[in-house]
Amino acid sequence: MDRTQNPFSPGAGAPPRELVGRDPILEDASVLLARIKRKRPEKSMLLTGLRGVGKTVLLNEIERMAEKEGYRTIFIEAHEDKQLGPLLAPHLWRLLFDLDRTAGFGNKVRKGLSILRSFIGSLKITVNDVTIGLDIDPERGTADSGDLEIDLPQLFVAIAEAAEERQSAVALLVDEIQFLSQKELGALIMAMHKIQQRQLPFILLGAGLPVLPGLAGDSKSYAERLFSFPEIGALSEPDAERVLKEPAQAEGVIFEPPALEEIFV
Ligand SMILES: Nc1ncnc2c1ncn2[C@@H]1O[C@H](COP(=O)(O)OP(=O)(O)O)[C@@H](O)[C@H]1O
Ligand SMILES: [Mg+2]
Repeated sequence: MDRTQNPFSPGAGAPPRELVGRDPILEDASVLLARIKRKRPEKSMLLTGLRGVGKTVLLNEIERMAEKEGYRTIFIEAHEDKQLGPLLAPHLWRLLFDLDRTAGFGNKVRKGLSILRSFIGSLKITVNDVTIGLDIDPERGTADSGDLEIDLPQLFVAIAEAAEERQSAVALLVDEIQFLSQKELGALIMAMHKIQQRQLPFILLGAGLPVLPGLAGDSKSYAERLFSFPEIGALSEPDAERVLKEPAQAEGVIFEPPALEEIFV
């Protein structure tokens, strides 16, 4: 095959021509997004599976679905060397500024900005790309204790209330979530617990390796009541065959059956 025309270029999260064989999970995600938007209780979703099964492309597709459903989305990738707070802060800042520009009454968005400013102040590090609005005073005593398990729930509640006030909803998508430290994962779980108790329009969608349910359970025993952990497995053979055959066929190339068998064993 002409290398310049080769339709296959394996790479992490590279969008496929078509997302094959994942209708059931996309259906579940769509119901989940619709329910949270309508303030119906539903577990957040953490996709688990081995490397390369297709979690990142699924998470990207779910982000598109969330945007269509009217959510404000934040997509981050957890990283061993990066802390959750600084990773999230610039995205939350942008989100609140966007909400501030949308029509609506109330003071929850401004309050959210003040609380976020307190939170950033407590991180004790400079957050790249975040210019703290000088006109915004920090809300002292909220989300600034320096203990993420206390601060993150307060911050998420403030953001969710701001979104609710502007008739919006927030979807936070976290890829490679197993890289969070136990403290960070615990804080995220506690934050989602608060959000669920108050039925606020904020949803967490994550993806991680199969160790994730164990990590979440170790961190907070009630995690299984807050999250579902759908397992993403290999595609069925007919689906995998389509993924291989169709892009090749479009270039006038036919896989011989023994070649496909070689791939599947
Ligand atoms: N359902 C699918 N249909 C077609 N291609 C897929 C599908 N799932 C994954 N791929 C392809 O497989 C590769 C690996 O997917 P990725 O989402 O990065 O896996 P993971 O995040 O689980 O490690 C990507 O290049 C992607 O385009
Ligand atoms: Mg991935």
